[in-house]
Amino acid sequence: MTKNATQQAVDAAIAAHRDRPGALLPILHAVQDAIGHIPPEAVPAIAAALNLTRAEVHGVVSYYHHFRTAPGGRHTLRLCQAEACQAVGAAALADHARTALGCGFHEATADGALGLEPVYCLGQCAAGPAAMLDEEVHARLSPAELDALIQAARGRP
Ligand code: FES
Repeated sequence: MTKNATQQAVDAAIAAHRDRPGALLPILHAVQDAIGHIPPEAVPAIAAALNLTRAEVHGVVSYYHHFRTAPGGRHTLRLCQAEACQAVGAAALADHARTALGCGFHEATADGALGLEPVYCLGQCAAGPAAMLDEEVHARLSPAELDALIQAARGRP
């Protein structure tokens, strides 16, 4: 994403929403919808337009799990981190995924194949740990099954 494209998306989002009450969230959604994430260089312009500090804008971006600050991958692996899945090993599975992918939550693999995101419940609470690869939900996921999913996704365009 070039700086120009980012700037255009930010300018358009600000122009469309700056005059409504609570403009920050609609602006952030519009930027992410347009370019897939909210790059750090978008924050100063948004803060200036809304008369907020950069820290305030950054705080909102980091508070909402929905917003990402780096580009995603071709495929998205979402690991459930909610309570019922935590009780059956979601944290260990997340550690395994981070090691296997070489990236953390809200990041993507170096080859751009996969982005890793947390999600908070996939409706599989009795069959955790649960995950979603693109649109497909997987339940009772073992580390080996996760490896197989990752490998299959890497092989797909
Ligand atoms: S808590 Fe993980 S699917 Fe509901």
